Amino acid sequence: MLSERIQIIRSEFDSDISKVSDLKDLENVRIKYLSRNGEISTLFEDLKTATKEEKPLVGKSLNELRNYATTQFNLLKENLETASSSTDEKIDITLPGITKILGSKHLLTQTLDEIKSIFKGLGFSILEGPELESDYNNFEALNFPSDHPARDMQDTFFINKEFLLRTHTSPVQIRVMSSHKPPVRAIMPGRVYRNEAVSSRSYCMFHQVEGLYVDSGVTFAELKGTLVSFAQQFYGEGLNYRFRPSFFPFTEPSAEMDITCYLCHGKGCKVCKQTGWLEILGCGMVDPNVFGFVDYDSEKYTGYAFGMGIERTAMLKYGISDIRVFFENDIRFLKQF
Ligand code: DAH
Repeated sequence: MLSERIQIIRSEFDSDISKVSDLKDLENVRIKYLSRNGEISTLFEDLKTATKEEKPLVGKSLNELRNYATTQFNLLKENLETASSSTDEKIDITLPGITKILGSKHLLTQTLDEIKSIFKGLGFSILEGPELESDYNNFEALNFPSDHPARDMQDTFFINKEFLLRTHTSPVQIRVMSSHKPPVRAIMPGRVYRNEAVSSRSYCMFHQVEGLYVDSGVTFAELKGTLVSFAQQFYGEGLNYRFRPSFFPFTEPSAEMDITCYLCHGKGCKVCKQTGWLEILGCGMVDPNVFGFVDYDSEKYTGYAFGMGIERTAMLKYGISDIRVFFENDIRFLKQF
């Protein structure tokens, strides 16, 4: 009897669907019962053979079976789908978070920032000049005689006869004095270029900080006092220092300032070439000839100037032995500072 078969198929369906554990099982159930050749469709086919009296009742329960099976199927399908998509998105709250690695200032920037803040505290302002400079500002007005070896093609990147990449920050002194009347007190940091072979000790590009103080009655004693105060703040209180006579075309007298070698504490080692001293900067009293080029009255004004390499300064302070590390951007070096 058809109505009995409907009962049987319904309980088979219930049993089958209760065993479904994934979408693949469910699809098999759909094919078995709800597809065109499935059990329920077959029952509809068979309904045609039912008697006139049977048909309405059997037809009704057959429709109920189909609706029931379709609803069960759809419900389970929805459940399985949301379950599977939520497994994909499962969040493990015990996993460590994703840390964003922050960059830091390059050691040269840190060093320059420190130099700037010390000189600001000593009453200096901060000025800058261009890297592309005239031969006049870079050499001529700084009292370099025309046959000076620093003018040689070997040391200088010439653009043409008149212009070059500045070989030091000293030309900014000329720019500052040509545009400001005394008193002037400024430091002038920036990048400089030299046509030199790259090695652990020299690079074709590096940085310097220039210093200049011009007023009436500026003395060499003030120069020493200022630079000693800088060195103590930058390298540490307990340091020993000395000023050694030297020569620069634009200062007279000229000196170089040394501090005790950080490595051997003055005993003598490879870094200080057994002298116990390390040179940290060049300095001197502005040569009256330079004042002549910028229209300063050398009878009325005196001044001092100094210059130091920023790479060299950082190398001395942190015990770095190769200048190239500043420009290679090796993160293993950079992140140590
Ligand atoms: N310009 C010099 C250099 O490139 C450094 C220097 C020495 C600057 C003495 C000065 C100074 O202002 O007085 O090596």
